[in-house]
Amino acid sequence: MAFMGLSLSSPSQLLLGMVVLWLLSSPAFSADPDPLQDFCVADLNAPISVNGFPCKPITNVTSDDFFFDGLIKESNTTNIFGVNVTAGDVRSFPGLNTLGISMNRVDFAQGGVNPPHSHPRATEIGVVIKGKILVGFVTTGNVFFSKVVTTGQVFAIPRGLVHFQLNVGKGKALTITALNSQLPGATALPLALFASNPSIPVEVLTKGFQIDDDVVKSIRSKFGV
Ligand SMILES: *[C@@H]1O[C@H](CO)[C@@H](O)[C@H](O)[C@H]1NC(C)=O
Ligand SMILES: *[C@@H]1O[C@H](CO)[C@@H](O)[C@H](O)[C@H]1NC(C)=O
Ligand SMILES: *[C@@H]1O[C@H](CO)[C@@H](O)[C@H](O)[C@H]1NC(C)=O
Repeated sequence: MAFMGLSLSSPSQLLLGMVVLWLLSSPAFSADPDPLQDFCVADLNAPISVNGFPCKPITNVTSDDFFFDGLIKESNTTNIFGVNVTAGDVRSFPGLNTLGISMNRVDFAQGGVNPPHSHPRATEIGVVIKGKILVGFVTTGNVFFSKVVTTGQVFAIPRGLVHFQLNVGKGKALTITALNSQLPGATALPLALFASNPSIPVEVLTKGFQIDDDVVKSIRSKFGV
């Protein structure tokens, strides 16, 4: 039997071929695994580290474990981006452990931008509660999709893609977003590239962006590097 250009004669070679095919077809990003029980409220102080958190004893679980009031308050947007993301993920809301979901509150000052970033482990859906936001994302083929959304309108960002939100309205804006991971992660490109610790070698950035050293220095200085 021929398989991907190889001649597979024995059952073990066929099995190897199937494993290779399975590995090749696995997505580069994957969502949270399915839960194996109704819930598993995180014991954030457990001394062991696993993929997620261990469950706290079921007899300790209360109604409060499934409620979270951390998104009630407007957050302080006095920073260089004019944006503040308050995360309702497993770290602040341990009841989400193994449930594959989380929710953020994003406050925008007038003109504030949630700079280009990506969530490696989640697709995002968001609703504008207040204001007018330009939402955009770029595909892996560098195609840009964007739209101005306003109060009550909903937007979606495919998992892992680079995206941003810019407040284009008058005054403050607020969005609530939901992500299909208990801990979606966020890579903010300006910080990942220009404010990492330790720093990325300058020649990677000058060559990568086709800019001079002083531009790299200037951008870094904006982030206190
Ligand atoms: C569970 O509750 C017991 C009794 O209140 C307490 O001593 C223990 O620390 C709790 N364990 C966790 C992981 O919350
Ligand atoms: C976000 O807001 C919180 C609460 O107002 C504040 O403690 C925190 O410093 C702010 N973060 C940034 C990056 O501005
Ligand atoms: C917001 O943060 C800025 C910068 O950290 C600070 O100067 C200001 O007092 C804060 N505002 C409030 C209302 O806490």
